[in-house]
Amino acid sequence: MGVLRGLLPRLTRRQMAFIGIPLTVVGLATAGAVAVLIFLGASGGTISQAPVQPIAYDHSVHAGDNAIPCEFCHRGVSTGAAATIPSVEQCMYCHAVVGQDLPGVLQLTDKWEAQEPIEWTRVHRLPDHVRFVHVTHIDANIPCETCHGNVKTFQVVKQVNALNMGECMGCHRDTTNQPASSAAPAGNVVLKSSASLDCATCHR
Ligand code: HEC
Ligand code: HEC
Ligand code: HEC
Ligand code: HEC
Ligand code: HEC
Repeated sequence: MGVLRGLLPRLTRRQMAFIGIPLTVVGLATAGAVAVLIFLGASGGTISQAPVQPIAYDHSVHAGDNAIPCEFCHRGVSTGAAATIPSVEQCMYCHAVVGQDLPGVLQLTDKWEAQEPIEWTRVHRLPDHVRFVHVTHIDANIPCETCHGNVKTFQVVKQVNALNMGECMGCHRDTTNQPASSAAPAGNVVLKSSASLDCATCHR
C-alpha cells in the first residue's frame, strides 16, 4: 500500500480502505489462478478451452434436442481405437432435407458441393506415446460421460477431465463401480473386469 499512498497522496484513510478491498480480492484471485495452474501442471493434464470450430456444430441440438445417438456419428467407438468424426456426407444424410436455411447448414452445403472436408479442430489429444482404445471401454459399459462429460448439453465441445495417467490408472486399478472423476455422474459405471496396469498396455 506504500506505493499507492505515494501515488494518491490526498486520499483519506476511509478511501484507502475502500480501494484496499478490491485490490485484496484481485490479489487473492490471482493467487488462486496461479495455484490452479501449478496444480494442472503438476498433474500432467491440460483441460483445454473449447476451440472455435470451422462450422458452429452444436451437440445440444443433435445429441440433446434431437436425441441422435453418439454412435450414429462417432461410428468407430464400438468397433475400434478411434471414435472418428463424421464425414460431410454423413451430415448431408439429414441436411439434404433438414434445416437447409440455417447459416451453419448453408456453410455445410457449400463444403458438400465443393467436395471439401471440414477441418475440425481436435479437442482431446493424448501424447503419441500413449495408446487408447475406445471399443474396449465401450464394451466394458463405461459411458461416454465418464470421460467426456455430459456432451449432449454442450454447444461447443470442451475437455472436462484431465485424462492423464493418474485418471487412467485410477480407474484401471479399481474393480468396483467407481467413476473416473468427480465430474462424472456417480454410480452408473459397471466394469466387466479390472483392467491392466502394465506400462505396455498404454505405452508403445
Ligand atoms: C450428428 C453428429 C454427432 C452426434 C450425434 C454426436 N457428435 Fe460428437 N462430434 C460431432 C462432430 C462433427 C464433432 C467435431 C466438432 C466438434 O468438436 O464440435 C464432434 C466432436 C465430439 C467430441 C470431441 C472430439 C475431439 O476432437 O476430441 C466428443 C468427445 C464427442 N463429439 C462426443 C460425443 C458424444 C458423447 C455424443 C453423444 C452424447 C456425440 N458426440 C454425438 C458430431 C456428432
Ligand atoms: C440424424 C440427422 C442429423 C445429422 C446426421 C446431422 N444433423 Fe445437423 N441438425 C439436425 C437437426 C434435426 C437440426 C435442427 C434443425 C432445425 O432446428 O431446423 C440440425 C441443426 C444443425 C445446425 C444448425 C444448428 C443451430 O444452432 O441452429 C447445424 C450447423 C448443423 N445441424 C450441422 C451439422 C453437421 C456439421 C453435421 C455433421 C457433422 C450434422 N449437422 C449432422 C439433424 C442432423
Ligand atoms: C475411458 C475414457 C473414455 C470413454 C469412456 C470415451 N472416450 Fe472418447 N476419448 C477418450 C480419450 C482419452 C480420447 C483421446 C484419444 C487420443 O488422443 O488418442 C478420446 C477421444 C474421442 C474423440 C476424438 C478422437 C477420436 O477418437 O475420434 C471422440 C469423437 C470421442 N472420444 C468420442 C467418444 C464417444 C462418442 C464415447 C462414448 C460412446 C467416448 N468417446 C467414450 C476417452 C474416452
Ligand atoms: C472409468 C474407467 C476407465 C478409465 C477412466 C480408463 N480406462 Fe482403460 N480400461 C478400462 C477397462 C474396464 C478396460 C478393459 C478391461 C478388460 O475388460 O480387459 C480398459 C482397457 C484399456 C486398454 C486395453 C485395450 C485393448 O483392447 O487392448 C487400454 C490400452 C486402456 N484401457 C487405456 C486407457 C487410457 C490411456 C486411459 C486414460 C486416458 C484409460 N484407459 C482410462 C477402464 C478405464
Ligand atoms: C492406463 C493407462 C496407463 C498405464 C497403465 C501407464 N500409463 Fe503412463 N501415461 C498414461 C497417459 C495417458 C500419459 C499421458 C498423460 C500424462 O502425462 O499424464 C502417460 C504418461 C507417462 C509418462 C510421461 C510423463 C510426462 O511427463 O510426459 C511416463 C514417463 C509414463 N507415463 C510412464 C509409465 C510407466 C513407467 C508405467 C508402468 C508402471 C505407465 N506409465 C503406465 C497412461 C498410462
